[in-house]
Amino acid sequence: MTRVFSGIQPTGNVHLGNLLGALVHWVEDQHRSDSLYCVVDLHALTFPQDPTELRSTTLRLAQLLLAIGLDPDVCTLFVQSHVPQHTQGAWIMECTASVGELRRMTQFKDKSAKAQFVSGGLFTYPALMAADILLYDATHVPVGDDQRQHVELTRDLAERFNSRYGQTFVIPEATYPRAGARVMDLQAPTSKMSKSAESAAGTILVLDEPKAIERKIKRAVTDTETEVRYDVAAKPGVSNLLSILGAATGRTPEEAAVGYSQYGPLKTDTAEAVVELLRPIQARYTELAEDPAETRRLLAVGAGKAEEIAAATLARAKEALGLLPG
Ligand code: TYM
Repeated sequence: MTRVFSGIQPTGNVHLGNLLGALVHWVEDQHRSDSLYCVVDLHALTFPQDPTELRSTTLRLAQLLLAIGLDPDVCTLFVQSHVPQHTQGAWIMECTASVGELRRMTQFKDKSAKAQFVSGGLFTYPALMAADILLYDATHVPVGDDQRQHVELTRDLAERFNSRYGQTFVIPEATYPRAGARVMDLQAPTSKMSKSAESAAGTILVLDEPKAIERKIKRAVTDTETEVRYDVAAKPGVSNLLSILGAATGRTPEEAAVGYSQYGPLKTDTAEAVVELLRPIQARYTELAEDPAETRRLLAVGAGKAEEIAAATLARAKEALGLLPG
């Protein structure tokens, strides 16, 4: 039996990179595997957050995940801070990771270089992420390409723990989508699309209006050639559009390139595919947003299911470590 676990941070707005790189695959995976999905609010605390904003972003993100198609009768959807085993597991993983390993994390290097205040949590963040995954005996972790190094570290930590203290954790494997694993910024197509991009024009938000989506894609940076071809190194802008078009229509970027000889039609079709992909999600989100109490009820049920699994794994790890039972 495969067990899937993945998470997303409640910071800023969900963008097309999150959707195509991860979330659409969560929806597919829930029908194939026993799946758990988590709004990782504790991860968001690695940077100072506005409390009112964090509370509302967490709830809205859960509603968006339901709108995208997560079915709480099929998968387990919950909020990280509702399951206390995550922080306990994180401590065990912090004591399993070396400072050298944590220092090598490129996301820490990038984020700490840009931040004015670098919290201890930003540094130990991958240990919390490892705990998230290992607590659920996850066999598969669907993520975008930017999380590759964190999942590799999780595997190393699980292997190290198991060899020191005996078989305790399942070794997970990251899974990446065929297209969309790395959605790039439309204005700077050599950087990934992100919530903290310099220019809002480079990021398509899942809740953007159709007009805004059309405008952003129309203005996307391409190159001075005219040939439509998937070649990330030589043609990052065009390749990004092909990757988005492919992911939005269930094809590889190479397949999506067939039949185009000009950038104009490629942009028009990409915009249309994205608008069509987002239309039903936006409609359902609007409905769900009207009933926050129901979302909170669903999240409480999810946390209950998650805690049962996490508590059993944590108990196994504590026993293996030699912590005296209480
Ligand atoms: P986060 O919240 O930054 O992103 C959520 C998911 O979206 C993917 N993603 C992208 N995919 C393609 N192109 C992009 N431009 C792009 N930007 C983001 C991410 O790879 C991710 O899959 N550390 C994680 C959250 C996390 C987690 C976990 C994930 C915490 N614990 C356990 C898996 C398992 C993060 O910050 O993702």
